[in-house]
Amino acid sequence: METQVQPEKDSPADLGPHRVRLTGGRRYRWCACGLSKRQPYCDESHRGTAMDALAFQQSEDITVALCGCKRTQAPPYCDGAHKTSTPT
Ligand code: FES
Repeated sequence: METQVQPEKDSPADLGPHRVRLTGGRRYRWCACGLSKRQPYCDESHRGTAMDALAFQQSEDITVALCGCKRTQAPPYCDGAHKTSTPT
């Protein structure tokens, strides 16, 4: 049975972005559900829910801001949504 996750209420996700250094060519899995204890990356805590991680990679080494609030419209990157929306 799948459980619908409500990141705003149930997750340890942070409200702000995570500024991280990514290695070019390496694959990453961004936590979309908000349940991971290794934010902003997936630790498989989404298992048993209807959600899954977002796999992504960069072509070169780069520092980026990954979304922590899980409200971005440009996942996995922060788009500033944490500044304009609040958890319910
Ligand atoms: S733990 Fe959140 S998507 Fe995997």
